[in-house]
Amino acid sequence: MSAAAKRAAELRRQLEEHNYRYYVLDAPTIPDAEYDRLFRELQELEAQHPELRLPDSPTQRVGGAPLKEFAPVIHRLPMQSLNNCFSEEELQDFDRRVREGLGLERVEYVAEPKLDGLAVSLTYENGVLAQGATRGDGETGEDITANLRTIRVVPLSLRDPGPGTRDSGKSGVPKVIEVRGEVYLPRAGFEKMNKEAAARGEKVFVNPRNAAAGSLRQLDPKMTAQRPLALYAYQVGFHQGWTPPKTHAETLAQLRAWGFPVSDLIEVVEGYEGCLDYYRRMEERRAKLGFDIDGVVYKLNDLAGRDELGSVSRAPRWAIAHKFPAEEALTVVENIEFQISRTGALNPVARLKPVFVGGANVSNATLHNLDEIERKDVRIGDTVIVRRAGDVIPEVKGVVLEQRPPHARHAKVPTHCPVCGAEVERAEGDVNARCTNGLSCPAQLHGALQHFVSRRAMDIEGLGEKLLAQLIERGLVHSPVDIYKLGAEQLAGLDRMGEKSAENVIAAIEHSRDSRFERFLYALGIPDVGETTARDLARHFGTLDALEVAALGDLATESDESVKPKDRYPQLRKVPDVGPVVASHICHFFNEPRNRDTIAALLDPRQGGIRWPAPRAAVQGALSGKTLVITGTLAGMSRDEAAALIESHGGKVSGSVSAKTDYLLAGEAAGSKLAKAEKLGVAVIDLDGLRALMKVGPQMDANKRK
Ligand code: IVH
Repeated sequence: MSAAAKRAAELRRQLEEHNYRYYVLDAPTIPDAEYDRLFRELQELEAQHPELRLPDSPTQRVGGAPLKEFAPVIHRLPMQSLNNCFSEEELQDFDRRVREGLGLERVEYVAEPKLDGLAVSLTYENGVLAQGATRGDGETGEDITANLRTIRVVPLSLRDPGPGTRDSGKSGVPKVIEVRGEVYLPRAGFEKMNKEAAARGEKVFVNPRNAAAGSLRQLDPKMTAQRPLALYAYQVGFHQGWTPPKTHAETLAQLRAWGFPVSDLIEVVEGYEGCLDYYRRMEERRAKLGFDIDGVVYKLNDLAGRDELGSVSRAPRWAIAHKFPAEEALTVVENIEFQISRTGALNPVARLKPVFVGGANVSNATLHNLDEIERKDVRIGDTVIVRRAGDVIPEVKGVVLEQRPPHARHAKVPTHCPVCGAEVERAEGDVNARCTNGLSCPAQLHGALQHFVSRRAMDIEGLGEKLLAQLIERGLVHSPVDIYKLGAEQLAGLDRMGEKSAENVIAAIEHSRDSRFERFLYALGIPDVGETTARDLARHFGTLDALEVAALGDLATESDESVKPKDRYPQLRKVPDVGPVVASHICHFFNEPRNRDTIAALLDPRQGGIRWPAPRAAVQGALSGKTLVITGTLAGMSRDEAAALIESHGGKVSGSVSAKTDYLLAGEAAGSKLAKAEKLGVAVIDLDGLRALMKVGPQMDANKRK
């Protein structure tokens, strides 16, 4: 072998190893720049010696030449489908059939997530990926090898030959092995892809499955290469020169050892009770997974038992899919109405022909804002896809254009607020039209008050939605200030209010007067100022006066043509995460005389009487100058408590992990933040680690490690 060929082989091996560590294990061991350097070196070598450019080279993952059409592939073993069950009874029947077929009392199953993607077949000859195909009709699929090669987690060649390969000849690799799995698009990748498509004015996909299907069937592999597709392997098909293990669980372990991603949600369970328990746990976790699943699959673990049971009409008797209630359904938009939010936005709501979706009857779905209606081109009379996932508010995802009736008509945006009748305006660039009446609009007032009294704002317990509605309707409350003028007798006169509960509400109102600056700021309901921004503003400016002066000063830069856009709002933008949109909202809020009057009245000791402790000088402590992020469930301490503890030792708590983060405080079930911290090399500590840091300080700790 020439020196160039040797080096190319070594580079291929290294790059695939790093690929595997990065994409499959999510634990890279070299910086991206080093990977890029190795990659370029291989590219250059292959350019000088074209004969070294093998199909399993990592450089080929960027996509080769476009095809005219996909060639048919006849599967050597048919790719079967799965029977479905939808209820506990049907699951019990399945388990009974399996037990009776095998003459066993109890049966072990492997329970897997049922990924909502596309089944593919990957054939490796002597350990090298030779062919990739779609399932097609189960007998004949399409040759999509060039596209599958571009998926980073698809091994171009098998890693560690593993223990299951003893009779495969000298090389220790099966002569032929067909691995089956599901290609899917993680939700984050799907959203990113759609965002980019929308920015280019292109059509967006309705769900990750369709997007994955469209991406896999691109004739130009370079297109596929740009789509963030992923794969989970779950089955072995045809093989030669390989002795399968005894159980499916061992097969999956072998697939992992060969370098395939295998879902770590997979478990071995016992009996139908074990299956059911798995189903329920997955159903709970479903919304929080990074990808769509539409159910779970139970497979007989014992492979010999599978042969005994066999198949009926293209589906095995040894496996079944237990489907979740569908999260998406089709229905008709009967009307589009507008609800007024606390900031006056006219939020479009689709009134739907009731449909059962995500386990509930749905007759209303949000359309988010006017921009969305226009982008999705939703009209009254249209058939639409409605999605209800977990506890999330149902939404209209898209229109089935083929089913648009001739009488379909556009929603009419009201020129006047449907609640108070005031004029509606839509500022340039605003995704919403807004009622211009502020807190004089009962709907805005109701929303604003609900926010004002909420737990993380002024925290007035007992002032619920219905009570607030009554207070507004009876003209007892016109602004947050009026809450502080209420008396127990007034409250006791309302529906469903006893004397005792009235007194409790009054006590809660009284109690809320002692507040904190950041809570008060958040309670004001400035558009886009959430809890974190409120806290950062409070910290940065220390006092309301300082914030107001900055806001009014910055407002002058907004419409000043001589100031470059990036130099606008110079004072507010010194605060972390405050960009031009938030800054503009803050400026306009403080510029509105009505808002300034409300604030003054809320703070006036004879009216609202709200107060908070003066800002403390920055605490100096063991954590001074250090930024920490908290994630997961901490044992015996809430995250708020942990944040307070960190701050009391001079540390700063931030919401997101970045290169500037010093420590990630991670509890149970830490997720993406932990992954990111590990990727960035941020130190990860638990509560004991934090306590140790606070005692000794990070400096000494760093010395200790050396
Ligand atoms: S096994 C004979 N396992 O479901 C068994 N399939 O309805 C063949 N699917 O075409 C499939 N997740 O696209 C299997 N963990 C999983 C799966 C899975 C999703 C899909 C696959 C298949 C369809 C069968």
